[in-house]
Amino acid sequence: MDGNGRWAAGRGFPRLLGHRAGVQAARRIVEAAPAAGVGILTLFAFSSDNWRRPAAEVEALMGLLARYLETETPRCVEEGVRVQVIGRRDRLAGRLCAAILDAEKATATGSRLWLRIAVDYSARDSILAAAAALPELSRDALASAIGPAVDLLIRTGGERRLSDFLLWESAYAELVFTRTMWPDFGPADLTAAVREFRGRERRYGAIPTPPRLRTEAWLD
Ligand code: FPP
Repeated sequence: MDGNGRWAAGRGFPRLLGHRAGVQAARRIVEAAPAAGVGILTLFAFSSDNWRRPAAEVEALMGLLARYLETETPRCVEEGVRVQVIGRRDRLAGRLCAAILDAEKATATGSRLWLRIAVDYSARDSILAAAAALPELSRDALASAIGPAVDLLIRTGGERRLSDFLLWESAYAELVFTRTMWPDFGPADLTAAVREFRGRERRYGAIPTPPRLRTEAWLD
């Protein structure tokens, strides 16, 4: 969801208006995701490093998140969207924690789209926490404790970093970077990114599937 601040600054608006426009963009992308072929959508709303921002911006972001969950939950229920928030909860305000629990409970049976929202999230912390909770550490056990593997990771706003987002899960993710600021990122951009993803060859360290060997062709 990168670029909210620059989107606002470019229009002479305060950053908060960029974040509000970012919420509208999130609504549009959630609505468009199933038709674009997306079954699991994870939005990076607030990283554990975002606490370094000015207190007023942090408070505004937390308020936007709580309001988003409170207002969108009925629509998510209707649309079959399962909402899950990943990340730490112990530093979140009571209103936001309550909104998260209500949204997760009300939407638990949704099966059209699994919407994951990362809040106070750090991939490195989530790997450490998952590893610490496992009786025996193995790649498979850690993978299933952490969450689904990422197929496509889209970063908006011209940044070309992972910034502590879904690091384990993105081991073989296809990366799409776009200069489009998040508030301007719409369903057509999502569809274009999915199309680009589908055009990529995923080899997972293997070599490309070979064409039929010449000697075999001679036998035809
Ligand atoms: C990145 O843009 C955006 C954020 C750090 C916050 C995004 C979160 C919200 C808008 C809250 C609501 C979330 C949901 C999922 C409804 P930036 O501020 O880093 O922008 P910049 O890179 O232009 O400075």
